[in-house]
Amino acid sequence: MTLAEGVRPRLAAGALSEEEVLRLRADFPILDDERLVYLDSGATSQKPLAVLDAERAHLLHENAAVHRGAHALAAEATERFEDARATVAAFVGAEDEELVWTGNATGALNTVAFAIGNASAGRGGAEAARFRLVPGDEIVVTELEHHANLIPWQELAARTGSRLRFVPVDDEGALDLEEAARVIGPATRIVAFSHVSNVLGGVNPVDALVALARGVGALTVLDACQSVPNLPVDVKALGVDFAAFSGHKMLGPTGIGALYGRRELLDALPPFLTGGSMITTVTMERAEYLPSPQRFEAGTQPVAQAIGLAAAVRWLDAVGMARIAAHEAELGARLAEGVAAIDGVRLLGPAPGAPRVGLASFVVDGVHAHDVGQFLDDRGIAVRVGHHCAQPLHRRLGVTASTRASTAVYSTRHEVDLLLEGVRDAVAFFGVRS
Ligand SMILES: Cc1ncc(COP(=O)(O)O)c(C=O)c1O
Repeated sequence: MTLAEGVRPRLAAGALSEEEVLRLRADFPILDDERLVYLDSGATSQKPLAVLDAERAHLLHENAAVHRGAHALAAEATERFEDARATVAAFVGAEDEELVWTGNATGALNTVAFAIGNASAGRGGAEAARFRLVPGDEIVVTELEHHANLIPWQELAARTGSRLRFVPVDDEGALDLEEAARVIGPATRIVAFSHVSNVLGGVNPVDALVALARGVGALTVLDACQSVPNLPVDVKALGVDFAAFSGHKMLGPTGIGALYGRRELLDALPPFLTGGSMITTVTMERAEYLPSPQRFEAGTQPVAQAIGLAAAVRWLDAVGMARIAAHEAELGARLAEGVAAIDGVRLLGPAPGAPRVGLASFVVDGVHAHDVGQFLDDRGIAVRVGHHCAQPLHRRLGVTASTRASTAVYSTRHEVDLLLEGVRDAVAFFGVRS
């Protein structure tokens, strides 16, 4: 039994207590180092022992090529690989066949964009015609996207002659829904947006955007990278057509991510990458493709990583996503309130009190984010500095860079307080206050 499983029966609901978090941290040996205050989980999370154990056990005892070999070991590896798919699919409310393994969220978003590009180039036959983009069509994103959910759409627009438009944000980084209703119109074919901003930590109005997209018959693509680790996510309840997330941000390994797609859409889309393991018949002239998810999984797959990700999901489930969401909300509020209360520091994104996960970016007046990061690092506090792969959003907010602190299930209130103390000291050190 992992510590996460041990914690659950004794707990009812609500945020995790500090003591419970401290118990859970025993599953993360990297956090034993008392000098480390890890507040960069939005970039990548730490991994519990259960994930490492699952990968190691697989590599030691079950390693073989999946969906290829006729021998018993290959069958066992295949079964474990497909079990992992079922576990991760169920975690986000999807059917097994609706979950495609990718290398990361970037790979998942590019898979949809390139598949639609291939359909637009005439691939995929009559079934794929519904995805075809032509000049005059529009793709809508938002101004707060991570580059991974912006550049693939810029490229798709350039390849198809369609037009990329965006829903702007206000000074607090909130999406302007009145403008969204104007931008999303009869020419819109795709609306791609993030569930939770990786810069602001705020939860975006998925329902409203899905309703606007559906109203004009457009497909929706959700970047769920920062929500799946922090909130209960049910892709069916959200009503999106596609969703992307990364294993390494949700306690899982690097090198594994997932694309959710409604089954009828995935089966009708032409593939992006082509090669082995995704075909039924191949002649020297042409190939027939397997249905989803295999048609999007060309080549040898990240098997151990998928098994590791399933172990991460079981760990998260054992704690309970509702409790993790409450924990994140509490830490996020503590971060936002604490940062906003420091003179000479500007909190980006929603004002304290608005829903956010445990993530907050801020700017210390007159001090470059890299200097703030260095100051904090000298105290063992690990944060992210820069534009966090969201240059247009930073530009809109009138800054070139910010400092971002982000939490995970293993983060404590005490760590947030150490960060706040560090920021206060940075303000004093750099002489921002007169
Ligand atoms: C909101 C968001 N989308 C997409 C990505 C890309 O994730 P990956 O680099 O794992 O592909 C990230 C990673 O920072 C992110 O935060």
